[in-house]
Amino acid sequence: MARITVNGEAREIDAPEATPLLWALRDTLGLTGSKYGCGVGLCGACTVHVDGRAERSCMLRLGDVEGATVTTIEGLHPQGDHPVQAAWRELSVPQCGFCQAGQIMQAASLLEENPNPTDEEIASAMDGNICRCGCYERIVAAVRLAATGS
Ligand code: FES
Ligand code: FES
Repeated sequence: MARITVNGEAREIDAPEATPLLWALRDTLGLTGSKYGCGVGLCGACTVHVDGRAERSCMLRLGDVEGATVTTIEGLHPQGDHPVQAAWRELSVPQCGFCQAGQIMQAASLLEENPNPTDEEIASAMDGNICRCGCYERIVAAVRLAATGS
């Protein structure tokens, strides 16, 4: 049993402590926005916020997040209008979309820590989020748009 707050709601998850957080989010709570890409922390598709920081949910076990606050793409903004989400729509960033929840959660975490990053800082922060469709130029542009409005 793990007690965590997910998207503002206190949840009790009846699963072994070793269960990956990503499994619990998707299979137990039905929050399927976070995606399974590699399962070993190398692609970023599963990125969520844990106590406000971007984390790979495939690499965390329920026992690691006992008492923590977790935010998934479903909870980033009640209407899906976080500045990063708005910028993503404005620039039509996604292609297939599979990586995009992770990209947005990573970008939102970056802007929380660094509200006006340089292009180099954006590229560095987003480096671990893989996009097989190669949307990298639009991703950097959208993070810049979310940060500066231009
Ligand atoms: S599925 Fe978690 S980093 Fe790839
Ligand atoms: S949009 Fe297809 S993997 Fe990134």
